[in-house]
Amino acid sequence: MPAPRILVLNGPNLDILGRRDPAQYGTVTLQELEDLVRTTAEPLGLEVAFRQSNHEGELVTWLHEALDDHAGVVINPAAYAHTSVALHDAVEALTVPVIEVHLSNVFKREPFRHVDHVATAATAVIEGAGADGYRLAVLHLATLLG
Ligand code: DQA
Repeated sequence: MPAPRILVLNGPNLDILGRRDPAQYGTVTLQELEDLVRTTAEPLGLEVAFRQSNHEGELVTWLHEALDDHAGVVINPAAYAHTSVALHDAVEALTVPVIEVHLSNVFKREPFRHVDHVATAATAVIEGAGADGYRLAVLHLATLLG
């Protein structure tokens, strides 16, 4: 049987992780995050597709791929979590588990970050754990898929 494939999506401004507000997001780069996800997922028998976009519609299109091609999704929608009904709807349309991750604890931050449209459709939300949140999300997906 082929290994279940999980999709890991990162939204806007996460391509500049490591150089962006390290007090909030740490110094880990997107490449290092990807390495962490892969080294967590592979021993658990999960294959990973890892993607980042600064464009809302592209993230929506990739979520649609999970209808047929992926056993689960990890998504950090970044700022679109707070604004995007389209991402909410795309996550809601999926039948596979979707774990939302935020590096920072958005509830300790500005009030405009306290609205999360994706969280109301996600299976689970992990935030404030920094890069480790991605590792925890993969572990939880493995539990759900096991
Ligand atoms: C973030 C939190 C969002 O509020 C912010 O817009 C981001 C990153 C996080 O991972 O902590 O871009 O999603």
